[in-house]
Amino acid sequence: MLLGILKETASGETRVALLPDYVKTLVAQGMEVMVEQGAGIAAGALDEAYSQAGATLTPDRAGLLASADLLPVVNAPNAADQQLLKSGVVVTGFMRPLDAPQDLKPAIDRGATLFSVELVPRISRAQAMDALSSMATVAGYKAAVLAANTLPRLFPMLMTAAGTVPPAKVFVIGAGVAGLQAIATARRLGAVVEAYDVRAAAGEQVRSLGAKFLDVDLGGINAEDKGGYAKELSEEALDRGRDLIAKTAKYSDVIIATAQVPGRRAPLLIRKDAVEGMRPGSLIVDLAAPAGGNCTLTRPGETILINGVLILAPLNLVVAIPVHASQLYSRNIINFLGLIVHKGVLALDFNDEILSGSCVAHAGKVTNPRVAAVLELATAH
Ligand code: NAI
Repeated sequence: MLLGILKETASGETRVALLPDYVKTLVAQGMEVMVEQGAGIAAGALDEAYSQAGATLTPDRAGLLASADLLPVVNAPNAADQQLLKSGVVVTGFMRPLDAPQDLKPAIDRGATLFSVELVPRISRAQAMDALSSMATVAGYKAAVLAANTLPRLFPMLMTAAGTVPPAKVFVIGAGVAGLQAIATARRLGAVVEAYDVRAAAGEQVRSLGAKFLDVDLGGINAEDKGGYAKELSEEALDRGRDLIAKTAKYSDVIIATAQVPGRRAPLLIRKDAVEGMRPGSLIVDLAAPAGGNCTLTRPGETILINGVLILAPLNLVVAIPVHASQLYSRNIINFLGLIVHKGVLALDFNDEILSGSCVAHAGKVTNPRVAAVLELATAH
């Protein structure tokens, strides 16, 4: 069985699906691995490292696409690449199955089996395959570092002969995977951190990181679904959060906003008046920008200045840390492959909830009902 590793072509992408260390493991298990030349360079993995790990290097991308039985990727292959896929190939990666399922059509029509890392169920057994968490961890760290690097103030408290500098005040909105990592990083840099989340369970995690959790009375509603995610809230419940945010924004030097509800536009939580209430020189890093942003003034992908307040809205922070992002992703992929390859042979057991949950398409058909519904809706319009 041939496993192929492509050079990613998405604009700005620096990650690679599998680093050489993980290729070594696969080759030791009897897998044949072919790597497109230059695939790992941006992530610090030279072609020689792949050769030494036992892979074959090729300049022929089309040939690789046509012969690979297994294709772990970071981003879904583009339409032209999909046309070249070997029939029955298994592709696994960030497929954007709910944002852009129509982009997967050529691969589905060729009978590819598509597994989307975004749809891996968040159960304990799947934690080691949870690429969303891996990437959110990296993004949360980078958001705090970006804020520290951009803020015209120091993060830590300094007591010097020239006087005392107070610590920066950082407010993190949304204490999921990215938010918790942003809190931990900002704390390590010496900031005083407060955080808000609608899920009550987040409070304990925030406090365990040495930050203060800001509670909002949501009128007794349960804001958490059975998967551990936040639910979409009513406007009234959202307003209570917005008021707290506007109040906290007044004295915060930095806001790192990470609030998201899966499959929906990010909730709008930082109103215009909250931004206007912030001191000049303070800033917002809106990590929810790819889903529209948490701030009403956010322009995804741009940095804007409003009354002396900077709003940064990066779309893909993880590409700035390609080595460790690729390392964590490789580990997630290797663990996933462990579910579908046994003794060098592909064995897809769709009774396994991880496989059935993450499978987008198999044998020419869309298997995931949520994806099918989005596709149907798109076709109807
Ligand atoms: P996410 O990226 O979907 O959302 C980020 C955060 O925004 C969440 O904490 C959410 O509660 C919060 N949020 C949503 N609407 C909000 C609002 N209106 N105001 C304030 N905050 C709001 O979530 P993420 O980070 O991917 O995961 C969230 C949770 O999922 C985790 O904390 C955990 O409970 C669960 N999880 C479980 C895993 C497992 O068991 N394998 C792995 C990862 C996450």
